[in-house]
Amino acid sequence: PKFGYPATAGDYREKARARLPGFLFDYLDGGATDEQTLRANEADWANIKLRQRVMVNVDEVDTATTLVGQHCAMPVVLAPLGLAGMMARRGEVQAVRAANAAGIPFTLSTVGICPVEEVQAAATEAAWFQLYMIRDRSRIEALLEKAWAAGCRTLVFTVDLPQPGMRHRDFRNGLSSPGPRARLLKIQQLLSRPAWLWSVAVRGGPLSFGNLSDVVPDAGNLDAFKDWIDAQFDPTVTWADIEWIRQHWQGKLLLKGILDVEDARQAVQLGADGIVVSNHGGRQLDGVASGVDKLPEIVAAVGAQTEIFADGGVRSGVDVFRALALGARGVMVGRPWAWALAGGGEAGLTRLLASWQQELRLAMTLTGVTRIVDIGTEQLDRPYNPEF
Ligand code: FNR
Repeated sequence: PKFGYPATAGDYREKARARLPGFLFDYLDGGATDEQTLRANEADWANIKLRQRVMVNVDEVDTATTLVGQHCAMPVVLAPLGLAGMMARRGEVQAVRAANAAGIPFTLSTVGICPVEEVQAAATEAAWFQLYMIRDRSRIEALLEKAWAAGCRTLVFTVDLPQPGMRHRDFRNGLSSPGPRARLLKIQQLLSRPAWLWSVAVRGGPLSFGNLSDVVPDAGNLDAFKDWIDAQFDPTVTWADIEWIRQHWQGKLLLKGILDVEDARQAVQLGADGIVVSNHGGRQLDGVASGVDKLPEIVAAVGAQTEIFADGGVRSGVDVFRALALGARGVMVGRPWAWALAGGGEAGLTRLLASWQQELRLAMTLTGVTRIVDIGTEQLDRPYNPEF
């Protein structure tokens, strides 16, 4: 809305659009190729119809739960987002504060802006750390040691990015396109957002890939670094590398980016403490199914053996409830937290999370369940079995 208070993730998205330089908003908002999977991620939640129940004592509804052994006020985790620190001044610091105030975990991306030590200093709960495998294993080792030393105990290993997907928006607006014209285009977009430039880039600087700054060369030069990291994503990673990670990480291990039953089985066999059913927010292969579509069969296959997180297109507390009704233990949420952060800062994100918790609580109230562990297929209006 042009005036009034932002209430939903979508409202904050409009605020973010108005505040961020165009290429940054598009980087956050966009998906791969024609963005069909991105649209499906959002739209498919609406297919999950809930079962209204009445005349149940719902005086004491509790949204609290545990996720990989950690107590959480609701089953929501902020997903790792690269460059999130550019959405607001020292963005990841503001986000971890809002997340912890809401009683939920925050995940810091390998390619986040604020260093893990800075994020942890602001956190009241250990942040989760997300790992991208890069070719040079000694650098990964250094990165894992750094995260552990800073106090992180849960590692989210992202397995769906052997190469970055095809993101046409980034090319159109000059973010990933080369040459002087692209640079000019970026400068134009920056100059049209002076408030962002001043607040985030000038007062909030330096904007570098903080986690990698003492691990890789030239992490301070974003353009040069982006080229370097794009070439560094390691396409040779296989299941055998999980063992290598296990040797270098003593804490919990989640595999993020599983979308197939066979892969889910493999992850569980290798002892993953949890899996995140995800297509990377529709940013990798356009044309794959939404997480919602895949969730039921993956839950049926391995739900009893590991914790399953839904991810992609979750836009409200009702969607969180839907994910749990399909058998997820919790959800990861990506874009909405960055929209709220960009559009309303730490306070905006705090308000959005409070609103989601209230939506979740109301969904429980109106379906007649008082505890998170009791949410399941009983709360579905009818069984949801897409293709399988
Ligand atoms: C991502 N995602 C992501 N995942 C990851 O493991 N490491 C990362 O650095 C990033 N970076 C990133 C940047 C941006 C701008 C987006 C939108 C997404 C994927 C992310 O963690 C999550 O899987 C999706 O964002 C979930 O979909 P929704 O909630 O954004 O629809």
